[in-house]
Amino acid sequence: MHKIAVIAGDGIGNEVMPEGLRVLEAAARRFDLALGYETFDWANCDYYLKHGQMMPDDWFERLQGFDAIYFGAVGWPDKVPDHISLWGSLLQFRRRFDEYVNLRPVRLLPGVPCPLSGRRPGDIDFLVVRENSEGEYSSVGGHMYEGTEREVVVQEAVFSRYGVDRILKYAFDLARSRPKRHLTSATKSNGISISMPFWDKRLEAVAAGFPDVAWDKYHIDILAAHFVLNPQRFDVVVASNLFGDILSDLGPACTGTIGLAPSANLNPERRYPSLFEPVHGSAPDIYGRNIANPIAMIWSGAMMLDFLGDGAPNYRAAHDAIVAAIESALEGGERLTPDLGGTGSTTDLGKAIAAALENAG
Ligand code: NAD
Ligand code: IPM
Ligand code: MN
Repeated sequence: MHKIAVIAGDGIGNEVMPEGLRVLEAAARRFDLALGYETFDWANCDYYLKHGQMMPDDWFERLQGFDAIYFGAVGWPDKVPDHISLWGSLLQFRRRFDEYVNLRPVRLLPGVPCPLSGRRPGDIDFLVVRENSEGEYSSVGGHMYEGTEREVVVQEAVFSRYGVDRILKYAFDLARSRPKRHLTSATKSNGISISMPFWDKRLEAVAAGFPDVAWDKYHIDILAAHFVLNPQRFDVVVASNLFGDILSDLGPACTGTIGLAPSANLNPERRYPSLFEPVHGSAPDIYGRNIANPIAMIWSGAMMLDFLGDGAPNYRAAHDAIVAAIESALEGGERLTPDLGGTGSTTDLGKAIAAALENAG
């Protein structure tokens, strides 16, 4: 039995989560998967308003025995400042559970209008591998002379050799497992003169161990431009925490909508639970209308099954079947949410995907 902690969080996290669970249940029936769930109603901003913190003190002990965390989204800036809600929940999970890989697929799916002209499914199909535990996301720094004209704020970025090498190795291994065997690294060594030359140096050192993988690197500014102009160029794209964050919204935007984009926050060694969540946030602007696209949540569930199965054929098959059901619902085109140009609801699209999964079986 795989134990899954379910945390919906804030806003549309609560609307897309039921659709994610609906599809996981359909997959469990069809592929005979043993999944057990426990739902937690903390790690959201209403909990913070009641308790003065995002999570109970013993959150780590309560979650660490799970095999995975299935997570919606956190953040409601009108209730709680974002840095407090996020550093009090999601960023703690990523760090304390050492989920140092944030794997974010970018794929143009059939039936989705592409904002880039002339692109067809198959033209855009790559993986962003985002460093998820250090880098620009740090709490090292200080605030001096607060409120005076001489106010100064310093925030450090942290790049350890251990942290950089392990994400680069993960990305090279992944590239090696794919037909194109190609890796692109994001840098900015022209302007960020200490950490990024170090990142590039470690890239060369790690690359030496992967002579069968072709690699290149681009400064983040032109890399962003290539995402738009030449997305077919990419296979595996590895980036620091902040650069990877930006690229993993830009990539999905190039494939139609960020409502599709899944992610896996992985502790590859399986010492701690890994966390599976949409790339998007709580979307306060559309919450409460049942129009959020549930595909990112559902696809993240497929990634979770693949990871939990660790090579088991029925789990791999369940992943593939969920992705196929997403594609068939998109091609069917009837129940699509507004971000996909349709008039369907979150529930309609979730049900259509669950039905496609069941009917294919
Ligand atoms: P957001 O991703 O919530 O929304 C950005 C835009 O995309 C909005 O217009 C929204 O309506 C749209 N959108 C997002 N998901 C969608 C979906 N599934 N279907 C259709 N449209 C969708 O980003 P934001 O507005 O910058 O952030 C809102 C809150 O979420 C903030 O508190 C932010 O910190 C938080 N956030 C959390 C996560 C996370 O939990 N992983 C990720 C990003 C942002
Ligand atoms: C994401 C989000 C988070 C991040 C925020 C909410 C802290 O944007 O998962 O991409 O920057 O990592
Ligand atoms: Mn982001």
